[in-house]
Amino acid sequence: MAIRPVLRMGDPRLLRPSDRVLQLDTPELHALLADMQETMASLNGAGLAAPQIGEPWRVVIFGTDAPNPRYPDAEIVPRTVLINPELEPLGTQMEQGWEGCLSVPGMRGLVPRYQQLRYRGVDERGRAIDRQVSGFHARVVQHEVDHLDGILYPMRMTDLSQFGFNEELFPGQGLQDD
Ligand code: NI
Repeated sequence: MAIRPVLRMGDPRLLRPSDRVLQLDTPELHALLADMQETMASLNGAGLAAPQIGEPWRVVIFGTDAPNPRYPDAEIVPRTVLINPELEPLGTQMEQGWEGCLSVPGMRGLVPRYQQLRYRGVDERGRAIDRQVSGFHARVVQHEVDHLDGILYPMRMTDLSQFGFNEELFPGQGLQDD
């Protein structure tokens, strides 16, 4: 296990679509997930996608089992390993919400996302995951899965006046300068 450097916006590897995982429950996959979990924990992230550490596979992790200092008001999302995810929006309703990203450190932006969605995939041992979620949980999944398609949250924004540095947007809130 190792804490890995997180690629930052501008690195072309973040813009590349990632490949599906064909073999589950392998030592390589478990090692990748261990590195992702250690890296995410060290940075208080709410989620991390494999391409953010330079590994071009369709693997994301997310979850907050305690209030996250980067998202102090967010609801708790179960800790999840999601491989080869498929997203299906439920309805057309979108909502705006603030997002940050470990690949865009120190910043936040207001991003429209589907309010409700179904997501499917498997975990590291091939067990099926099939959930219907809404709100912050749905937002986190959309953000992380976007990374697998080479999309960073600023590319989803519709109003760039709502993009800036944590300390300027939320002065005195002590949001971690990730
Ligand atoms: Ni991100």
